[in-house]
Amino acid sequence: MSAAASTLTLTRPDDWHLHLRDGTALEAVVGDSARQFARAIIMPNLKPPVITTAQALEYRERIMRALEKAGLAAGAFTPLMTLYLTDNTSAQEIARAHASGLVHAVKLYPAGATTNSDAGVTDLLGKCGPALQALEKLGMPLLVHGEVTDAAIDVFDREAVFIDRVMVPLRRAYPGLKVVFEHITTQEGAHYVRDADGPVAATITPQHLLYNRNAIFQGGVRPHWYCLPILKRETHRQALIAAATSGSPRFFLGTDSAPHARGTKEHACGCAGCYTALHAMELYATAFDGVGKLDKLEGFASFHGPDFYGLARNRGTLTLAREEYAIPAEVAFGDATLVPLAAGESLKWRVVAGS
Ligand code: NCD
Ligand code: ZN
Repeated sequence: MSAAASTLTLTRPDDWHLHLRDGTALEAVVGDSARQFARAIIMPNLKPPVITTAQALEYRERIMRALEKAGLAAGAFTPLMTLYLTDNTSAQEIARAHASGLVHAVKLYPAGATTNSDAGVTDLLGKCGPALQALEKLGMPLLVHGEVTDAAIDVFDREAVFIDRVMVPLRRAYPGLKVVFEHITTQEGAHYVRDADGPVAATITPQHLLYNRNAIFQGGVRPHWYCLPILKRETHRQALIAAATSGSPRFFLGTDSAPHARGTKEHACGCAGCYTALHAMELYATAFDGVGKLDKLEGFASFHGPDFYGLARNRGTLTLAREEYAIPAEVAFGDATLVPLAAGESLKWRVVAGS
């Protein structure tokens, strides 16, 4: 397309990092993702977490029922399930997950790093050897929340320190392991993934492409800009934009859309997570357009993810138009409401059609 073109049609994109929750919350949000994406990697940090293949398959059934309830055609959206890695995940459980054909990855949450991560891993290389070996052998990706939880490490430095303390030793011990460094937020993360040897990739969220940490404090504390890993300074945002728009197949779309009811974010101890499923492609298109790189959006959104996961690219399309899109102030969330990222602001692109 030319820079002035007023529409942009892409191969239908996928979301490689999504929180759908459960119950009425799931029913409230699943349609938003299904309207834009063909597939999504579904995060397993429910309460209790999804730690077995049986639990993942039951959760998948609940997602399929929620889609039906939302009036979406069967096959309109495919949830790609994941397991939550614990200190006790066995090689047999990984083999079962892989054999199911419906569980596509395993998620590492360092214990205490983020929302619902209490059951997470306490000592990756010390405790998870059998699971990591099985993943490496089966070619199943390990999805990594890359932040150390050491209270002595500044919250803005936790990703960079994770690379040295965990990522490098992990990948040295299991050089064939497919690793997705989830929701990278720093120049160090972007450069590590760009330059490392072996099968490593990263997802990038829309908020980390569009905003730096000033957004959290502009005119007062703004909890709807608070997510983990937290927004970083402008130099990091620019490094992420460069990575996402570079054309490198190692970088792909993962919204990390993480719905929390308004009252749990506007709170003395507000939850981490930005709701972006509603307007994900509008956000990404605005970010890519901002640096004149709309021609790189399709690779990032629609090709690099399935290629890394070893899945077929989608056949359908999604069309955006260069039209102002006013982000709603809030949307329904069961008995509560959800405030989408950048509520009340406008974006430059709007999704107008899909197939
Ligand atoms: C996520 C959530 O709410 O589940 N929150 C977030 O800020 N991203 C958890 C996560 O992915 O870290
Ligand atoms: Zn997440």
